[in-house]
Amino acid sequence: MSTTQEPSSRTARPIQAREMGRSVVRRDGRAKVTGTATYAAEHAQDALHAVVVQSTIARGRATSVDAAPALAHPGVVEVLDHTSAPRLDRTEDRELAVLQDDRVGFRGQVVAVVLAESLEAAREGASLVAVSYDAEQHHVDFTPEAATHAPEKVNAGYPTDSDVGDLDAAMAEATVTVEQTYATPYHHNNPMEPHATIARWDEGADQPLVLHDSTQGVHPVARTLAPLFGLEQSQVQVLAPYVGGGFGSKGLPHCHEVVAALAAKAVPGRSVKLVLTRQQLFALAGYRTATISRMRLGADRDGRISAVGHEVLEQTSAIKEFAEQTATISRMMYAGEHRRTSHRLARLDVAVPSWMRAPGELPGAHALEVAMDELAVAAGVDPVALRELNDPPRSPEDDQPWNDRRLVDCLHRGADRFGWASRIDAPRSTLDGDWWVGTGMASATYPTYVMPGNQARVVALEGGRYRVEVGAVDIGTGAWTVLAQIAADALGCPVASVDVEIASTDLPPATVAGGSAGTSSWGGAVAAAVEQLREDHGEHPSPGAESTAGGEADPRQQEHAMHSFGAVFAEARVHRWTGEIRVPRMLGVYSVGRIVNPVLARSQFLGAMTMGLGAALFEESVRDPRYGHVVTQDLASYHVASHADVHDLQVEWLEESDTLATPMGSRGIGEIGIVGTSAAVANATFHATGVRVRSLPLTADRFLDAPAAMPGR
Ligand code: MOS
Repeated sequence: MSTTQEPSSRTARPIQAREMGRSVVRRDGRAKVTGTATYAAEHAQDALHAVVVQSTIARGRATSVDAAPALAHPGVVEVLDHTSAPRLDRTEDRELAVLQDDRVGFRGQVVAVVLAESLEAAREGASLVAVSYDAEQHHVDFTPEAATHAPEKVNAGYPTDSDVGDLDAAMAEATVTVEQTYATPYHHNNPMEPHATIARWDEGADQPLVLHDSTQGVHPVARTLAPLFGLEQSQVQVLAPYVGGGFGSKGLPHCHEVVAALAAKAVPGRSVKLVLTRQQLFALAGYRTATISRMRLGADRDGRISAVGHEVLEQTSAIKEFAEQTATISRMMYAGEHRRTSHRLARLDVAVPSWMRAPGELPGAHALEVAMDELAVAAGVDPVALRELNDPPRSPEDDQPWNDRRLVDCLHRGADRFGWASRIDAPRSTLDGDWWVGTGMASATYPTYVMPGNQARVVALEGGRYRVEVGAVDIGTGAWTVLAQIAADALGCPVASVDVEIASTDLPPATVAGGSAGTSSWGGAVAAAVEQLREDHGEHPSPGAESTAGGEADPRQQEHAMHSFGAVFAEARVHRWTGEIRVPRMLGVYSVGRIVNPVLARSQFLGAMTMGLGAALFEESVRDPRYGHVVTQDLASYHVASHADVHDLQVEWLEESDTLATPMGSRGIGEIGIVGTSAAVANATFHATGVRVRSLPLTADRFLDAPAAMPGR
């Protein structure tokens, strides 16, 4: 499929909602619940199985890889290491330059891959490969002292540092101050479906490399892999019709996709299937850095904030930089003339960190929103009122107008529905049997992104039907369904008259299902393509007529601070003798533009709030400083929130439409539900017990160690 001429791009006009706003049934639902949905590993039944061998040192060289014992195993077909794997054209990206040289940059790095006729043979073969190492002294311990590196930029292109006014002077003048340090631990994404790739190399074919991949973006995978293999992007086909979650870990290609492609190139004409194990995800699929946030808030006697300081220490890997944008939320969330934010990184001999749901906003909001709770207590102001008081009329650092900041509406609606007015201000006021009971809240926000580079095609079919094509990926979000709703409303036809094709690089290019920008970015392209169809073929296009167009964000977005907002309320119960924490109810109220599909959106919010609850109570990866790997590398020791932990969870959104954001009036919803949630729970545990825990997760022991936890002590 070759397009010689780039289609024109446009910002589509706003679409009138008829199908949008309805809970249209998920199009992939039946296939999923009946088990007929084919995930990445469920293709090519004749594929060779690949199992990777991982380094047992954190830094040094693999001096020799003895494949002979593995090759002697019946069933093992091939063993590839840095001496025998096909060469890559590019090796600048040290995460992706796998099996190209003897360097080891972290424990768990791929040093060999075994191909066999069965998974069992491949696994046993991998255990038989004998690797010798020349180990060097490694540095894997994240300490504040080690965090000295200032990255050029932080994730999503934000400046590393920002300094407005005079923070130190403002802090000195402030009547009420909070100066505290907050910490969040390592988090691992852990989607239900582990990362999996089936690769096939057919030398001389138009598309020599074909991948069935579990990814958040088929075109991004092709664009990244093609130059490594000396191919044009159009020579790599990537397919991902069903993906079992990603949370950012499948947003960028990781080394396993390269390993699978290299292995396929070594056995041309055979498919190679590489499925990472749960344990391997903890080294090879990205994760969220631990963070340390030094917060300084200064306010007058009434709680009016004049000073906001947020200095972040976190880590990256020595072989590839990823700088979590933890402090960016403190640049825009609340008023204050004097403000300083910064990020410093420790570069460690560890696995490569990457995107995890709301990178930056999750740890940043935790620090800022717990600090705000402390400021409320210090100033004697209600936490909801404190946030309302400091709601800035314009974006405080760049003085841009907001697109549609309705935090205060979320706060009011949430407080009403949660029954905030009946709250007793003083902490440690309510004991119900053996349980201390408290409530807490936090604000949420997430930037509104619309990504450039999306195209869509609309084809008129027989009988008033249409087919819409865009290379989007539905990772469980409901993209398949909402794109049909968007197309139907753009076309002015029923949703049942629209077929949607997604998840293939054969379709018009699309950006990642990430940054809460999928629906916004792809939907804008769909709307643009429908306008193009009308211009090219009129109101009643003949069957076969088709048009392709690119979508562009409204240029006025450049002059606006584009964000969504929300307010999260939580009740916590802390057992007075054991410290056990229960969260009997949570409520999130969000302002996110138009909701395209209420039932799917509700699931997104519930899932994100549950993930936020997990961050509050459980999620924590523990690295062994002796060896440099994560020891909690399974779901038995890395705890996520389960059904038993989730009680009364309520989600609500404001009725609104933001046509500055997208033609649909929608903004993104994938990530904001995780933002602020852990802070709301932490603040509720403080209100219940009077014990302020400043690092996550909020484990039972933290409430027992503190003197205030035991009455009479
Ligand atoms: Mo999400 S962390 O932007 O894939």
